[in-house]
Amino acid sequence: MATRLPAVIMDNGTGYTKLGFAGNNNPLFVFPTAIATRDSAGAPAGGSAVSKASGNIATKRGIEDLDFFIGNEAISNSKTYGLHYPIRQGQIDNWDQMERFWEQSIFKYLRCEPEDHYFLLTEPPLNAPENREQTAEIMFESFNIQGLYIAVQAVLALAASWSSNKASDFVLTGTVIDSGDGVTHVIPVAEGYVIGSSIKHIPIAGRNITYFVQQLLRDRNENSIPPEDSLKVAEKIKEQFSYVCPDIVKEFKKYDQEGDKYFQKYQGVHSVTGQPYEVDVGFERFLGPEIFFNPEIASSDFLTPIPEVVDNVIQSCPIDTRRGLYKNIVLSGGSTMFKDFGKRLQRDMKRVVDARIKRSEELSGGLIKVIVNPDKLSSSKLEKSIEIIIP
Ligand SMILES: Nc1ncnc2c1ncn2[C@@H]1O[C@H](COP(=O)(O)OP(=O)(O)OP(=O)(O)O)[C@@H](O)[C@H]1O
Ligand SMILES: [Mg+2]
Repeated sequence: MATRLPAVIMDNGTGYTKLGFAGNNNPLFVFPTAIATRDSAGAPAGGSAVSKASGNIATKRGIEDLDFFIGNEAISNSKTYGLHYPIRQGQIDNWDQMERFWEQSIFKYLRCEPEDHYFLLTEPPLNAPENREQTAEIMFESFNIQGLYIAVQAVLALAASWSSNKASDFVLTGTVIDSGDGVTHVIPVAEGYVIGSSIKHIPIAGRNITYFVQQLLRDRNENSIPPEDSLKVAEKIKEQFSYVCPDIVKEFKKYDQEGDKYFQKYQGVHSVTGQPYEVDVGFERFLGPEIFFNPEIASSDFLTPIPEVVDNVIQSCPIDTRRGLYKNIVLSGGSTMFKDFGKRLQRDMKRVVDARIKRSEELSGGLIKVIVNPDKLSSSKLEKSIEIIIP
């Protein structure tokens, strides 16, 4: 081959798949990681439910196996086909469906010959080696690709955060907060290596916020939304209108006093009748993403605010990595895209860290002295905190 073709990039998330080629700024396709098939148990059509063991799948394919859809097409065909989401909480859950999903991603969407390309796939942190092996087996044996690299999503997020071409900026140390649709992870990375034992998982991500917004709209009696569209509408409202506020009590007051300024209108079209309708969007604009910072407003199972989780993660890492981890907190994934998410996180983390310093100063009864090295005078309190936690 005279010129090497660009590598194919496939990032299969719980909710959305991002597909494209190396060298482009954006993915060529972003669509739900959904597949609609006729042959699986639970499919409304097709009757004979044949459940295949994962593994030797490629061998027993018949022509009827080509009858499936992925992405948005899968969702629009869900009335006559069985709809499945092959990835659960970031991990591949059904290999047969995943292989077919990749097949259409490559041949129908990217329209490329896999044997001419290298592939970059992504994996969640702490992915089991068997999953990686299974992926490689399918990629090489079913698709005959030229080469494969499976990168941890968080490490890619750190690389993607480099804003200049200066070599000194190419740091692979930082704390990545990756919040997608199904799962949120806080992942410390030092020199490109994930500090696996310190990763924390937060059971709040995009889907939970969508459910919460859906419930808030219902509680406010927004009756114009057709029930069958209510989840989709809640998701759209969340994506279009939500933001993170500095203080919910004050925010509620603003809406009470100057409602006209803050309430918004969502314009929808009924998916069956084609009738247009309007929805008033109010408190849910800021209450949705607030569940990251005050989880108790939506659930009683998980109660730790995200800034505290991040602080705990960094505190559990080896001491010599902590400074770099505080200094470079990188946001990644669709659910960190809320306006002012980063601003609030930074403010609240500072509060958490300051409170911890104060506590340990009190505990030590002033026995610990923090010596601020002159060349660190300009550094933040966050860094100062690192000095005093030496046991
Ligand atoms: N502008 C936005 N503001 C807030 N949330 C958004 C925005 N755009 C997309 N989202 C949400 O981001 C989520 C999808 O993010 P992403 O593609 O990173 O997840 P994923 O990779 O599919 O899932 P995971 O990383 O959990 O496996 C969805 O819940 C979607 O509603
Ligand atoms: Mg993701």
